[in-house]
Amino acid sequence: MPGQITENLKKKVAGRLAFYEDLGIRFFYRDRRREALFEQEKPVESLDNAMRPAEIAYQEPTLPKIPRRPGLQKVVSTAPSKMPPVPLPAAPGPSLFDAADKIVGDTLLRIREDLGECTRCKLYKHRHTIVFGDGSPKAELVFVGEGPGADEDAQGLPFVGRAGKLLTQMIEAMGLERQDVYICNVVKCRPPENRTPEDDEVSTCSPFLLRQLEVISPKVIVCLGAVAAKTLLRTNRGISQFRGQWLDYRGSKLMATYHPAYLLRNPNAKGEVWKDLQKVMAVLGLQARKGKPA
Ligand code: URA
Repeated sequence: MPGQITENLKKKVAGRLAFYEDLGIRFFYRDRRREALFEQEKPVESLDNAMRPAEIAYQEPTLPKIPRRPGLQKVVSTAPSKMPPVPLPAAPGPSLFDAADKIVGDTLLRIREDLGECTRCKLYKHRHTIVFGDGSPKAELVFVGEGPGADEDAQGLPFVGRAGKLLTQMIEAMGLERQDVYICNVVKCRPPENRTPEDDEVSTCSPFLLRQLEVISPKVIVCLGAVAAKTLLRTNRGISQFRGQWLDYRGSKLMATYHPAYLLRNPNAKGEVWKDLQKVMAVLGLQARKGKPA
């Protein structure tokens, strides 16, 4: 029957998804409500515009129109035109977060020494270099990613591969340099095949991240992607439910946005990320830098 998903088709789709996962591609969801919202609300200025020379006009990509299937009834929605923000659960109770502020006189150097040549979780088996973090220990802005990839594992520095180059462009478009901010990850060793870090790896490694944040005590933390957001906010909610909203993390303002690797696969989402970064810039009193090459 047309439109029915057969067992054969299901198998084919599962096989294709497994194949993409093996390649490290893990974002498959589409949030249709957000797409509808985004249709109504075009970004003030796209990240592409901010990162390209002014004379190269950015073309908003046009999506192909999907024809309505005959015989389908139009559903009249009674939902409000703008979704209200989804409140996050109340601040977490006592946990490993509270262990983080018990270390009096902690420093980044001491945290790095405590991490040592870590073998606390299985990720050490495949890593070449621990990627601790990079940037200013006095940064007002900290970016938190997921975990090192191949380039980071080789160089020992966070966000130096393709996604890292895009992050650097985003930082520069915000009127900053990389050395003005601090960049780190939830896990400090590269997960094999760039897979998502597993729960035990996150819980073993994240106390070091929490100590880093405690020492730096930035005004703003930007979580790049779901793993960072879920770790710091201790939520299982999808990132699209709270992306772009100001939240609190132990006195710092926290905002989650899409991971640059996601933007490499979905350039249409750059506008949303740029809007998020504009909110960060407003809090930090930054002016957008124009004319940065993409
Ligand atoms: N992706 C991350 O999450 N972190 C890096 O350091 C590089 C890519």
